Amino acid sequence: MTFARSIDPGAGQFTLSDQDFEAIAKFAHKNFGLALSSNKKPLVSSRLSRRLNKLNVRNFDKYLASLDAPGGEGERSELLSLLTTNVTQFFREPHHFETLREEVLPPLIEKARSGGRVRLWSAGCSNGQEPYTIAMVLHQLCPDAGRLDIKILGTDIDPVVVRTAQAAQYPDDELAQIPAKYRVKGRKGDDSHMPEVIRSLVSFGVLNLIEPFPFHGKFDAIYCRNVAIYFDTPTQQKVWAAFQKSLNPGGYLFIGHSERMSGPAASHLQSAGITTYINSSAGSRT
Ligand SMILES: C[S@@+](CC[C@H](N)C(=O)[O-])C[C@H]1O[C@@H](n2cnc3c(N)ncnc32)[C@H](O)[C@@H]1O
Repeated sequence: MTFARSIDPGAGQFTLSDQDFEAIAKFAHKNFGLALSSNKKPLVSSRLSRRLNKLNVRNFDKYLASLDAPGGEGERSELLSLLTTNVTQFFREPHHFETLREEVLPPLIEKARSGGRVRLWSAGCSNGQEPYTIAMVLHQLCPDAGRLDIKILGTDIDPVVVRTAQAAQYPDDELAQIPAKYRVKGRKGDDSHMPEVIRSLVSFGVLNLIEPFPFHGKFDAIYCRNVAIYFDTPTQQKVWAAFQKSLNPGGYLFIGHSERMSGPAASHLQSAGITTYINSSAGSRT
């Protein structure tokens, strides 16, 4: 088999070779936890070839080296974006938010009203619709949540989507999915945005889920949906275990509908509905 790069002599276009694909798959697994199986090769090849042609790069090894070099963050994030999708929406998989409204939040709001600390995390939050949905449900149940010690964190590996989430501006057709009172009309043709009362409940950060989590305290609920689908089984199991250890006893974990719980975390997480788990492990509450 030859791994030589194929260059269209007419257009001088770059085309990804098998060897390049293997190299990028290795990089993506090491740095993002992504599992790029060979059936992804056509998709990755066409997207990455387009990217390299856009950058006018003809030497793939140079491109690979630039990803690891100082200042390579921007291109790493571009690469991640073309290997994954940021698709999300407000109230996606609505029954997870019914559980939030009916089972998860009422006792947590009581806990916060008696001076307790409540933390909710949307891990792999993309452009922010998931953590803002959590915030809207919370605000509907507890309009004074902003005065209590209740905080929602949204994180994603991709700094571009984290910036979009922070800006909290969305096209009107997306905001049509949320209650009208939470839509603030943009001025002079700007997109509409989330109101301050919701924005102030959520903070955002860049975080790679395959690296050790930087938190001291534990969470009462974690939403990590449609993210682990990109990981291979050993990576998924590591991430599930890290979430389980980050949950208070009785804390909830919500995962995506195409994802499966497995590995050591499974024995501590009891099923509590579709793709919904409760941490049964004893530990110190924070
Ligand atoms: C399809 S979106 C899911 C958004 C939202 N959770 C939902 O279900 O609607 C997947 C997100 O996972 C993020 N992601 C992929 N690998 C990640 C990693 N290793 N650490 C953190 N986020 C990651 C991507 O950047 C993307 O924004």
